[in-house]
Amino acid sequence: MTKRNRLRAGSLLLMCACVAIAASAMAQSTKGAAKVAVTIRAGEPGATINPNVYGQFAEHLGAGIYGGVWVGEKSDIPNTNGFRNDVVKALKDLHVPVVRWPGGCFADEYHWRDGIGPRAGRPVKVNTHWGGVAETNEFGTHEFMAFAEMIGTKVYISGNVGSGSPQEMADWMEYMTSDTVSTLANLRRKNGRDKPWEVQFFGIGNETWGCGGNMTPEYYANLFRQFATYVKAPRGHRPKIVASGGHDAGTTWADVLTTNVHRDMDAISHHYYTMPTGVWEKKGNSVGFPESEWISTLKHTMQIDEYITGNEKVLDKNDPGGKVAFYVDEWGTWYSPEPGREPGFLYQQNTLRDALVAGLNFNIFHRHAQRVQMTNIAQMVNVLQAMILTDGPKMALTPTYYAFQMYIPFQGATFLPTDITTPDYSLGTDTVQSVSVSAARDINGTLQLALVNLDPNREAAVTTAVTGMQVKSASGRVLTAKAMDARNTFDTPEAVKPVSIVAKKEGGKLVLRLPPKSVAVIQLQ
Ligand code: AHR
Repeated sequence: MTKRNRLRAGSLLLMCACVAIAASAMAQSTKGAAKVAVTIRAGEPGATINPNVYGQFAEHLGAGIYGGVWVGEKSDIPNTNGFRNDVVKALKDLHVPVVRWPGGCFADEYHWRDGIGPRAGRPVKVNTHWGGVAETNEFGTHEFMAFAEMIGTKVYISGNVGSGSPQEMADWMEYMTSDTVSTLANLRRKNGRDKPWEVQFFGIGNETWGCGGNMTPEYYANLFRQFATYVKAPRGHRPKIVASGGHDAGTTWADVLTTNVHRDMDAISHHYYTMPTGVWEKKGNSVGFPESEWISTLKHTMQIDEYITGNEKVLDKNDPGGKVAFYVDEWGTWYSPEPGREPGFLYQQNTLRDALVAGLNFNIFHRHAQRVQMTNIAQMVNVLQAMILTDGPKMALTPTYYAFQMYIPFQGATFLPTDITTPDYSLGTDTVQSVSVSAARDINGTLQLALVNLDPNREAAVTTAVTGMQVKSASGRVLTAKAMDARNTFDTPEAVKPVSIVAKKEGGKLVLRLPPKSVAVIQLQ
């Protein structure tokens, strides 16, 4: 069956510069290739894609911080002031726009005073959410802020509502942002930081419907009003304040919050995790999975499109002026625990499938660029759908890392509407469209085209038409591999890496041959 999304024909096509690109790398026989037609409506620009859509999330969970980012100054692992050199470099190269910290569920048990002052004197607590292990508090506010400065990112602090108080939250803000001679600002100076920090985003609690306090939306709406009142910063330095919202298909939290909160709320957060089976108790494995879990994973990923749309409808009704943004501040794959590993550490392998999940999410987030002003993949290092995996001194960049890297030009780009005609890819009772597309004009004026070929068995022959622009050449990079669960290991860290695609003319046209199971980002000139 052919899927048709607003394909315009006839006179419009006469205005088009017909472009087709050929991927010489990994080119396969044209026989059996899925025929895909894409039109980029370059004359009809849409919203700006906020760079923060490419945000990250780092929680005190498993080896997400300890071992993954922080090894301490005395470690044999090469580090600068305790931060792993390899991880810092990799993240710097990724242009990470914002990092959310310290949780997650951990945030609602975190008391910031535990994480300041001389490290040897910091209290050791139990991380009750994640494995019941000792939390040394070696990595606290100063360490997080130093790390953020090292990788050049904005910060999104998640405050404690579940087991904290408005006073504790207010004090933390004062400690971080005050330039006065208050006792708290002076304490920060005594602890080594003279200048106040910039806190760009502040979250009032996390998952308050669950680990953040098991609240009703109405109860939390009142708490939000109370806590947010005291989140203060010097004039001109107020962070954007984020309310903890719902998850999955739910829209009640967005509805109740926008009905009951009339000030201080700059954004509502939302969480959605992709599970291959869709069943929490038996999520599915990160490697060695059948094709039925390949397609179901991609299908479940794309459900976020309708979940965002549902919440946008609520926001458009209650906040027609568009003052409240929608942040998907936790998303990504969540698989069954790896055998032999502590289940509470949420360590999982990351394969080509995860890169496609990332690409599909990006393409969807771009379409909602007006409301979706930030998203944060869960999580940055060693946890869930990570960019980076480490084992002692070893490090591997995951296929998800490369998907983020390829999409860097979309940060701050102007969304361009596209039309696509593509066959479906089906297996058993699951059907998805075989190719997903997104286009934008980047901040340098270059046209960027992102394509995901969901079909693991069939190459796609993609012909792209661009309205309002003559395209002379096209080149870019594609990420693919032979196996659905191909991954980078510590011994073969470069097994899955993007390779270049060189545009090639065929009969007066440029034709792109998109390999099966691939993500590509192409620059059109
Ligand atoms: O990312 C792991 C956990 O998932 C977070 O701590 C929590 O917010 C969510 O349930």
